[in-house]
Amino acid sequence: MENEKKLIFSGIQPTGTFTLGNYIGAVRNWAPLQEEYNCIYSIVDLHAITVTQDPATLRKHSMEAYALLLACGIDPKRSIAFFQSHNPSHAELSWVLSCATQFGELSRMTQFKDKSAKHADNINAGLFTYPVLMAADILAYNADLVPIGADQKQHLELARNIAQRFNQRYGDFFTVPDGYIPKLGARVMSLQNPTKKMSKSDENPNACILILDDKDTIVRKFKRAVTDSEACVRYAEGKDGINNLITIYSSMTGKTVEEIEREFDGKGYGDFKLAVGEAVADALEPIRTEYAKLMGDKAYLKECYTEGAERARRITQRTLSKVYRKVGFVDAR
Ligand code: TRP
Repeated sequence: MENEKKLIFSGIQPTGTFTLGNYIGAVRNWAPLQEEYNCIYSIVDLHAITVTQDPATLRKHSMEAYALLLACGIDPKRSIAFFQSHNPSHAELSWVLSCATQFGELSRMTQFKDKSAKHADNINAGLFTYPVLMAADILAYNADLVPIGADQKQHLELARNIAQRFNQRYGDFFTVPDGYIPKLGARVMSLQNPTKKMSKSDENPNACILILDDKDTIVRKFKRAVTDSEACVRYAEGKDGINNLITIYSSMTGKTVEEIEREFDGKGYGDFKLAVGEAVADALEPIRTEYAKLMGDKAYLKECYTEGAERARRITQRTLSKVYRKVGFVDAR
């Protein structure tokens, strides 16, 4: 990665498959980003255990997330793709950065407050220091850009503050990272309650498209999507269900809203839903095929993540030894 390109770091939670919302909002931008940037993608298993995990499920989900990353077009030779737990620098740097982070700052994190309310029986210290580990992920590589959704903005802001504080105290060192907002991207809503974001934790399985759903399932879920009684495909206030389907169809086909309205002029919702379902299924088909191939070749996956972790470590060990020197630790060598 010795070139002039800017560096992108992204962490992905190993929570099983992605939704169509994740795909349209984030995942499908990943492969093209590799043209313009050096990219590092980490499956953040250390972050995952801040909530209770069943070990076998975590291991399974982690491997699936890794395979999915490659299936979505991340090239493990060009980019670095690895498991966070395979690079000890993240946890090590996190300790140092935690000593440059205030209790008050972490107490203000809205995700901590939300998750403590949701997991009241397990408000562990890791849940509290989660954003420090995230800062370490990013700063260990001196990443320039971090693609994040709205829910991670506050954490990125904290990472920037930690970097700036460290730089002030010990002399300019860390790159202060910026958020990366993809050029294309749309908010995808639930198919059953289109005022709510599409989420895989929705109780109604028809509300959410998973990117590994097969064609029949996808078409069926779109068939059952909630719309309205106007029976006219047009984008307008109050037509949340249709607006959502238009947004999805537009992001899949590249057609504008006007083009879509014209295409379905005089046609019913049944035709429209079928067209959206098929467009989505066709776009996701190559990912599903590639994913199945990768999951059938664990040796290849292992080769990829082992090499990814080695390359990651090479970068962060350098960062870490400089940090240790700056804070005043005696040289180990
Ligand atoms: N907290 C992020 C999320 O839940 C995942 C994450 C961990 C991350 N470390 C990161 C994202 C570093 C970007 C950069 O989505």
